[in-house]
Amino acid sequence: MEVVVVPTPEDAAPIVADAYSKLLAAKPKAVLGLATGSTPLGVYAELIRRHKEEGLSFAGCSSYNLDEYVGLPAGHPEGYLTFIKREFTDQVDFDPDDVHGPDGLADDLMKAASDYDQAIKDAGGIDIQILGIGGDGHLAFNMPMSSLSSRTRLKTLTSKTRSDNARFFDGDVEAVPKMCLTQGLGTIMEARHAIMLGFGKNKAQAVAECVEGALSSRWPASILQLHPHATVVVDEDAASQLRFTGYYIDTFKGKPDWQGI
Ligand code: F6R
Repeated sequence: MEVVVVPTPEDAAPIVADAYSKLLAAKPKAVLGLATGSTPLGVYAELIRRHKEEGLSFAGCSSYNLDEYVGLPAGHPEGYLTFIKREFTDQVDFDPDDVHGPDGLADDLMKAASDYDQAIKDAGGIDIQILGIGGDGHLAFNMPMSSLSSRTRLKTLTSKTRSDNARFFDGDVEAVPKMCLTQGLGTIMEARHAIMLGFGKNKAQAVAECVEGALSSRWPASILQLHPHATVVVDEDAASQLRFTGYYIDTFKGKPDWQGI
């Protein structure tokens, strides 16, 4: 696991966007795993800028969201498929038909979940999976004590995640759905490159536990310790409880330019 510590979230965006530019140059029909929430928005903004100003193209790509609330009406502004189209894919040249998310309105949610895992496999697997860590260490909507080898499935959100996400629902925690479909930790681990972002003091404990603590379902993002190509990009606030920050900074500074993350 590579840990990149940057002064601010704004400093993370070009470093992560470079990984996409490199991927798309080598593989224009890349498969992108996309996260919602506030954490990746700076990266999406930088990708949109590169599209508009530098011609970075997503025309041949397909994307798969990490998760979706169950039961939100189609087109609800906080539905994750709606969110990702609004915040990212509709602002670049992604074909809307190639933008996917789990179907939180399916009659048979269990089948929708396993179909989603299969669709990712059929697409050839995810090239870059972007992730935001939750304050309790959750990854996608794999809450603490999620199976470390789980597949896409139905989950119940914790009250902490519902209250964290109430800010997207005018502060009304009751408006936040109780259930979701989420890629499993085993599904996420199949992505060829996993990039996890964490910003702010409220992520500091989770980052420290998941990066330097023991592998444990109590801290679901700790599963990335087993990933052959995982990059954790954190700002100084989120890094504030890490113990090996000096090593991470020196290592990143010493990398040859061509290597990237
Ligand atoms: C989003 C997702 C969640 C968020 C996490 C952090 O698709 O799966 O795991 O990444 O809850 O949320 P923010 O970025 O809003 O702090």
